[in-house]
Amino acid sequence: MKLKLLIILYVSAFFTTGSFQQDDPLKSSMERGKLLYKTCAGCHNKGGEGYAKISPPLAKSDFLKNNKTARIIQIVKFGLEGEIKVNGEIYNGKMPPQKFNDQQIADVLNYVRNSFGNSGAYISEQMVSAVESR
Ligand code: HEC
Repeated sequence: MKLKLLIILYVSAFFTTGSFQQDDPLKSSMERGKLLYKTCAGCHNKGGEGYAKISPPLAKSDFLKNNKTARIIQIVKFGLEGEIKVNGEIYNGKMPPQKFNDQQIADVLNYVRNSFGNSGAYISEQMVSAVESR
């Protein structure tokens, strides 16, 4: 009888710890995105601070926060040019489209939108695939 109880305890402990280890999709996406961010850092700086008058910050960016997710995806997927205002500063540069696949775009944006003082909802590969150029 005692053995049976022990087995039950053992099995339930196994499942409990197992569920802790289950992959959180946002967390694993952010881990991959962190590596991909190196591509962005050349222009947006290591900590997302940007470079004055050249490329806008991603850190605590009001633009990133106030625009729809689809618009942000569109920028990374298809690039951006023309005047924009970020945290009160005007930028009029050109961001080339990134040579990333849809999963990589989701990953890098999950990292950016949840780092540098930002917080945003999870972006899936499907959400990126659904976004078309204007
Ligand atoms: C070659 C330089 C360059 C690279 C590389 C680059 N960007 Fe940009 N990015 C820019 C410029 C310049 C703008 C502003 C364009 C404008 O003035 O219209 C911009 C704008 C943005 C914006 C909107 C404004 C803001 O600051 O919130 C986002 C979001 C963004 N970039 C994300 C990224 C991400 C993510 C990557 C990496 C996958 C990346 N960029 C790579 C130059 C770059």
